[in-house]
Amino acid sequence: MTDFPPIRKAVFPVAGLGTRFLPATKSIPKEMLPIVDKPLIQYAVDEAVEAGIDTIIFVTSHKKGAILDHFDPNSELESLLTAQGNVELRDRVHNIIPDHVSTRYVIQEKALGLGHAVWCAKKLVGDEPFAVLLADDLIRSTGSGCLKQMVAEYHATGSGCIGVEEIPVSMTDRYGIVSVHKDAVGRNYIRDIVEKPSPESAPSNLGVVGRYILPAEIFSLLESVRAGAGGEIQLTDAIARLLENKPLLAHAFEGVRYDCGSRQGFIRATVDYALENADLRDDLLRYIETVKGV
Ligand code: G1P
Repeated sequence: MTDFPPIRKAVFPVAGLGTRFLPATKSIPKEMLPIVDKPLIQYAVDEAVEAGIDTIIFVTSHKKGAILDHFDPNSELESLLTAQGNVELRDRVHNIIPDHVSTRYVIQEKALGLGHAVWCAKKLVGDEPFAVLLADDLIRSTGSGCLKQMVAEYHATGSGCIGVEEIPVSMTDRYGIVSVHKDAVGRNYIRDIVEKPSPESAPSNLGVVGRYILPAEIFSLLESVRAGAGGEIQLTDAIARLLENKPLLAHAFEGVRYDCGSRQGFIRATVDYALENADLRDDLLRYIETVKGV
């Protein structure tokens, strides 16, 4: 079996405005909104670290200081928790980023789209395949996390990979949509990818979720694509060009995805994660019973 370069770096575009959560996101980045007691961005970072990522690259805006603060060590807080004898909580705060993982930041000066955000990480990524995670797609899995599953596919084939799931046809205009063909051993390779097509023109109902493993060639393609859907530089359009020369897998991950960029998805995630938490479950179930018929 061939050895392919490891996937060590992950790009987190976190410069978006989060308008769907205003006014909450006027001063708090949407990625810092918590599901139970962890900010969305930390779920995604944890998933990346589990997949073997050792360099986290945040593409951020000038206004996202809270994200930097969250991932910076806070020795004052840790000392206080130690003095209070709350070792468990101190360790949780300390291990927000494991010691072997480093964080880097790059500023996206203008909100020109997801493709532009990824392009901003070009110098920090260099010439190696890398991952992209969109933190508002929260993926809960009982086994390996979504990115770890995709890294395994990459190591088995050497091909880049995009996370996908079936979505209702009526919702194709909210996501990137792919059509696929199977290879001889049943792996799904992407034939086409289109950003937010109408249900009538969508090539399928397989929606892209915010998990990508991409070769470094994507950066030069991002430089030449023009503004696409919504007037933005779309990652999807550069991926469509990449497909002319490079195969890419579509990975239908095991797990549940919550679109936490929408209020409905965010609330569902909050309920499901709370139900998984032994301290909260019974109380929440009792509470749901009392409000059910209201
Ligand atoms: C982005 C991508 C889209 C993908 C989606 C997943 O869209 O452009 O292809 O399906 O993330 O969440 P956005 O949510 O930024 O509009």
